[in-house]
Amino acid sequence: MSAVVIVGAQWGDEGKGKVIDFLAQQADMVVRHQGGNNAGHTVVVGEEEFRLHLIPSGILYGDKWCVIGAGVVIDPRVLLEEIDYLGRRGIASDHLRIASQAHLIMPYHARLDALSEDRLGAHKLGTTLRGIGPAYMDKAARIGLRVGELMHPATLATRLQRVLEEKNRLLARAYDVEGFAYDEVLETYLGYGEQLRPYLANTALLINQAIDRGDRVLFEGAQGTMLDIDHGTYPFVTSSHPVAGGACIGAGVGPTKISQVYGVVKAYTSRVGDGPFPTELRNALGSDIRDRGHEYGTTTGRPRRIGWLDAVALRHAARVNGFTGIAVTRLDVLDMLEEVKIAVAYRYHGERIDEFPDHAEGLDDVEPEYETLPGWQTPIGAVRKYADLPVAARHYLERISTLIGVPMVLVSVGRERANTIPLQPLF
Ligand code: GDP
Ligand code: IMO
Ligand code: MG
Repeated sequence: MSAVVIVGAQWGDEGKGKVIDFLAQQADMVVRHQGGNNAGHTVVVGEEEFRLHLIPSGILYGDKWCVIGAGVVIDPRVLLEEIDYLGRRGIASDHLRIASQAHLIMPYHARLDALSEDRLGAHKLGTTLRGIGPAYMDKAARIGLRVGELMHPATLATRLQRVLEEKNRLLARAYDVEGFAYDEVLETYLGYGEQLRPYLANTALLINQAIDRGDRVLFEGAQGTMLDIDHGTYPFVTSSHPVAGGACIGAGVGPTKISQVYGVVKAYTSRVGDGPFPTELRNALGSDIRDRGHEYGTTTGRPRRIGWLDAVALRHAARVNGFTGIAVTRLDVLDMLEEVKIAVAYRYHGERIDEFPDHAEGLDDVEPEYETLPGWQTPIGAVRKYADLPVAARHYLERISTLIGVPMVLVSVGRERANTIPLQPLF
């Protein structure tokens, strides 16, 4: 049995796409199970760069089953554009399968996302404005529409009419803006349905069958642990479960079927959007790392906030995910630094805190306690064997692993497949 869950250990953009692409070489199936097109996963293959938002990164191989599970929220316009974008670049999507239970992102979701952020003003969350939160709200409120319903025009028509009436009333009364025309939305979505029909499948069945026959299944997490709606820095989080358990729920797979859970850890920290970030570097060093690492959002192009590695947050991530290994990425971005720092504890009103607090209030005021290690000041992008890494780089990695209490299974030293140092068999 080989079902491996890969999740972000920090605030997203850890390099999950790169790690999944590397592991997918050995996989038979890659599954997305939560989030939506708020995700942006970049994969570099040779001279080419692919930016994926919804389709699992395994698609680039052509022969892997790629599944979008029930827990994902799908904007069909974006999904069809992505299929088209891949097609234009010679990548076929005939191995793509989509859960009929996946909820649809509707035009009013993106509109409400933007209006709500606007109204929050200085207190905004800094969402990706893709309608993710409003779509998950409707799912929980049981007024969401699902991909499968696109195949049943009569049911869709009735349910859409009821829901749209309510949304238009909300848009008019709460926000004083115009609503959406029922006929247009219905026609557009029925059109999407026709185009998506070939991809629909009972995905929980497909995934479980694959695991049971011994195929290698990879679960591609989106976002990161600190953006988890329960275990992240609420309310500055996304609306799904980026933690490993989310893979079971979103894909329809029992926890007993999961063999490994790997956390992708960026060698420093980044965050897009608002919310607390204890180790943030609001100085020239932060800008330098941003520039060296080209840290700009894959989805929204926003500059990412940069900070030192935070072992307090990572210990929390290791716990709530049950990591069996960590994959450390972007180590090369730190190549030129004289010294590197790791937050090992926080100080809050004079008191030392060793574990990540269970509430986000106060996180703005915590003072990280750092451990300083020497930098390696050598380019490491060409290194292919762990033993060939500079001593200081190995020391940094080993310290991370020790502080988190999880073995390191892979190190990434560049964007391409070749810039990867696996430390043990990963399946
Ligand atoms: P994801 O959302 O976790 O998949 O991460 P993103 O794709 O949004 O951002 C990660 C960025 O880092 C991408 O541009 C990757 O190509 C790049 N990347 C991944 N691993 C490495 C690495 O080891 N070194 C460098 N320099 N870049 C990396
Ligand atoms: P990947 O998969 C980084 C952040 C947004 C915002 C918060 C809520 O590429 O790692 P949302 O639109 O989800 O309601 O926004 O979550 N966010 C991400 N940050 N990487 C992502 O995905 C993210 N997806 C959402 O910036 O702070
Ligand atoms: Mg990303």
